Amino acid sequence: MDQAAKKKRSALAAVSYIDDGMTIGVGTGSTVDFFIDALPDHAHRALSLVSSSERSTERLVRLGLDVTELSAVGDVDIYVDGADEATKHLHLIKGGGGALTREKILAGASRRFICIVDDSKLVGRLGRFPLPVEVIPMARSFVARQLVKAGGQPVWRRDFRTDNGNQIIDVRNLQIENPVELETRLNQIPGVVTVGLFAHRGADVLLVGAADDVKVMT
Ligand code: 5RP
Repeated sequence: MDQAAKKKRSALAAVSYIDDGMTIGVGTGSTVDFFIDALPDHAHRALSLVSSSERSTERLVRLGLDVTELSAVGDVDIYVDGADEATKHLHLIKGGGGALTREKILAGASRRFICIVDDSKLVGRLGRFPLPVEVIPMARSFVARQLVKAGGQPVWRRDFRTDNGNQIIDVRNLQIENPVELETRLNQIPGVVTVGLFAHRGADVLLVGAADDVKVMT
């Protein structure tokens, strides 16, 4: 079974968490695209949808679904999103698609964060995938120097602008022994908008699509 089929399997498993009248946060990425594509079948269930990116909003709208602003709803009942890496502690690296800031907002606003991944994303320790950091453009070089001091190797994601008009630095070679502590530390650097570590608010449920089944980790 290829990776896309495993992604689809985990995304479709997330559909079973939908209940009538829910407000659903919709993440971003190729795994979430499978979840989005399943939503029209549930349009009759009076769902409110909040999106984490222009990309996901466009896909939802193309399918005839309404997208609501986060500020127009209360708490988000479930937030469904992918990840670039995940551990058994449900700590994540996210932001490969550059949507990390709105993703972190929706994760924070949600009662239940359901993370959908294929089994290649499951790791013993975070950090093989370069850690995305969204920065205010004028602070990019300054932040990059601080990231070197933190032991990383920052690489500017050129020709990319986030939905918020900011830039992304991908940090390689970080030894992420303690994701909660590192998230706190990197968040203190002036000019950092969002760190792609989701440890303070990790997932509540991790659905891991594999060749033979979907593993549910809580
Ligand atoms: C986007 C993300 C995505 O969830 C992450 O990059 C995983 O993407 P994919 O489902 O395409 O593998 O964090 O900012």
